[in-house]
Amino acid sequence: MAETLTVTHSATGKTIEIPIEDGAVRATAFKELGVVSYDPAFLNTASVRSAITYIDGDAGILRYRGYPIEQLAERSSYLEVAYLLLFGELPTQEELARWSHEITVHTFVHENVKQLMDGFRYDAHPMGMLISVLAALSTFYPEASKVDDPVIRLEQAVRLIAKVPTIAAWSYRHSLGLPYVYPNNDLGFATNFLSMMFRMAEPHYHAKPAIERALEVLFILHADHEQNCSANAMRSIGSSKVDPYSAMAGAAAALYGPLHGGANEAVLKMLDEIGDVSHVPDFVEAVKAGTAGTRLMGFGHRVYKSYDPRAKLIKQVADQVFEQTGVDPKLQIALELERYALEDDYFVSRKLYPNVDFYSGLIYKAMGYPTDYFTVLFALGRLPGWIAQWEEMLNDKEQKISRPRQTYVGYDERPFVSMPDRA
Ligand code: ACO
Repeated sequence: MAETLTVTHSATGKTIEIPIEDGAVRATAFKELGVVSYDPAFLNTASVRSAITYIDGDAGILRYRGYPIEQLAERSSYLEVAYLLLFGELPTQEELARWSHEITVHTFVHENVKQLMDGFRYDAHPMGMLISVLAALSTFYPEASKVDDPVIRLEQAVRLIAKVPTIAAWSYRHSLGLPYVYPNNDLGFATNFLSMMFRMAEPHYHAKPAIERALEVLFILHADHEQNCSANAMRSIGSSKVDPYSAMAGAAAALYGPLHGGANEAVLKMLDEIGDVSHVPDFVEAVKAGTAGTRLMGFGHRVYKSYDPRAKLIKQVADQVFEQTGVDPKLQIALELERYALEDDYFVSRKLYPNVDFYSGLIYKAMGYPTDYFTVLFALGRLPGWIAQWEEMLNDKEQKISRPRQTYVGYDERPFVSMPDRA
């Protein structure tokens, strides 16, 4: 028998029976009773029916298109995962070769993009640069505004996956006053990115295989995370049918915040502030008392109420990277912080566990990236997810322009008061 929810309005006595589909009732059903559902921050509201990413927050499960994140992290590549997220299936050998070729031959950007980037101050935050240049890309590809054309949409998806690493690498070079390194189409995706970041006078950049693979795994772990703040921004902005560059600038801006992708940068700042393993208990007590001026960054998640499966995998990546680079002394502080917090009732009772950002910053730092660059790396990983979410939204016949309702709690009508009469 089909499940239903029966609701009675106590004031009018009117009763409605609402079908439950996939564990959800349609909020529009409440219209009949003259009420709206009120859910600030979407704590219990599904805004989409999605087939991209599955999360079970209590069990610590994450799957892209049905494939467990653990298996993808171990056996897949970033471009393969991007293909999977976008097209719904793992590519055949031939499809992957064609896809990789497409991405590789679109890595160059218009020379004017370089001039645009030169206009930023030497110490501009790389996320500020990334957000701005993403928005500017819409002016280079005006046809991108035809968002109802699937062929044009795919072209933009390819451009974004191919060109954003170039822009991201150049934002780093700009901050150091170093010449920009052009893409090298003979290199694989991750090596090419590392070459654009770190190549100096050598004719060919040689990445350490363990570091290259670690970066690829980090990108895979960040590739999508269903309806998070930035994916929701991508969908919401995209629902106005603006071009994907403008929508993605908004998504990247959402990611920049310290409660979302900016948390990896905030974790490192927090570890700096703690300074020494012996200060961990005092710091945690201050967080609990609300006097630390911060939460425990890299802890807690809206959906995961157990260990974030990505954080588990990232710990393994950390071991592999530290083997190459040496252990960062801050790792000891992070490990002690985790141990201390996970034995503390404040964190246990609220189900606050390390999230993906708790250890990723330490790895990025060991790999040589500056702290303010961490969120850019997150954005590179998340890019295919944003595109897949946008594409799914545009193909979903039920979606319309995103426009929540409100309950108005302000003044009732009142007459305008002229200046001399105001208190
Ligand atoms: N440190 C200390 N207390 C915390 C933390 C934390 N990191 N996170 C949540 N809490 C507490 C809250 O104060 C609240 O306590 P209360 O019930 O006594 O008021 C309770 O736990 C629930 O917290 P909410 O803010 O309601 O949880 P929400 O789901 O809205 O927030 C979030 C999730 C934003 C991730 C939060 O846990 C947080 O701020 N964490 C730190 C920032 C962070 O690491 N962000 C990265 C998230 S992962 C990502 O975006 C990639």
